[in-house]
Amino acid sequence: MDKKRLLTGDRPTGKMHLGHYVGSIQNRVKLQDEYDCYFIIADLHMLTTKNSTEDIFNVRDNAIEVALANLACGIDPQKSTIYLQSAIHAVYEMNLIFEMLVSVPRLKRVPSLKDMARDANINEMPFGLLGYPVLQAADILMPRAHIVPVGKDNQSHVEVTREIARRFNFQYGEIFPVPDYLVEGDTLIGTDGNAKMSKSIGNTIYLFDDAKTVAKKVHGMYTDPNRIRADIPGTVEGNPVFAYHDEFNPNKAEVEDLKARYRTGTVGDVEVKEKLTIALNNFLDPIRERRAQIEADSGYVEQVIYEGTVKTSKLADETLMMMKKAMGLTGVWNKISRKGRKRMEKLQKQPQS
Ligand code: TRP
Repeated sequence: MDKKRLLTGDRPTGKMHLGHYVGSIQNRVKLQDEYDCYFIIADLHMLTTKNSTEDIFNVRDNAIEVALANLACGIDPQKSTIYLQSAIHAVYEMNLIFEMLVSVPRLKRVPSLKDMARDANINEMPFGLLGYPVLQAADILMPRAHIVPVGKDNQSHVEVTREIARRFNFQYGEIFPVPDYLVEGDTLIGTDGNAKMSKSIGNTIYLFDDAKTVAKKVHGMYTDPNRIRADIPGTVEGNPVFAYHDEFNPNKAEVEDLKARYRTGTVGDVEVKEKLTIALNNFLDPIRERRAQIEADSGYVEQVIYEGTVKTSKLADETLMMMKKAMGLTGVWNKISRKGRKRMEKLQKQPQS
């Protein structure tokens, strides 16, 4: 039997960090054997909050950066398809058709949209941002995906997709599987102790930071502010240094020992951080190496995206045609064009007098 199809992805807004790895990439690498995976580079979604010519220009590099991060972490283009959203013509058309199948009040209730507007300093909700979940429905339904791994903030978008799929199937005929969402990995706390690692807050460790930069960032990490001396008992819970140890240090005995000594005030921050630096660099070394290998092969990443986009575009055309047939739109055009073309050809054949 054919594998079920999976679709997920990212907006190409910058460099990828450890939070992306923990939250999604790691999960994708595990899922790519079980599912037929499509990874979208969602540059059209980026336009909902960032659409200056400079933002769009930067997609050239950022799209490569997103793909490179996925590949360096183990996404295999033999198994998975990476594609550029803005190059898929059919998705723009699907978006319009789906816009008729959802109400404005329904979209206004999607909580993440207000947050996105606020974060981008947008006062009045643009039509396109309100339509963010509709465009996402077009992405997901385009390959007729069965499963969509997403973070918490995107769950409500997949809800909208499910409603649109049901609505289309009911109104025009069964075309779409109603996709399930899969809640992705945990959010990683930032180096400053902030709830989320995020480029805009500047509390990140990037997947491609070099070893020295990682050491510097770990050295500057927020720990327990009450612990002004190494002999004061400290708190491990919610402490980013230990959250990272739990996530990235494979030596569990070492982590438990550090925690125990931290709680009793018998270990200095410096030792905890030095061990974390080693663990992180051990984790990142193979990813950096893989990136270097990939980059040495000029044009490789571009080829992966190119091939993925051509393949996805064919699939999208196929789905769009199914949709238009089910709706009767192809019938309208066929009737008009057949008669119209016939008459045009007849006139062309008549000798000019
Ligand atoms: N909305 C996702 C984000 O937050 C990006 C995205 C666009 C997406 N289309 C998708 C994710 C389809 C999953 C499925 O960046």
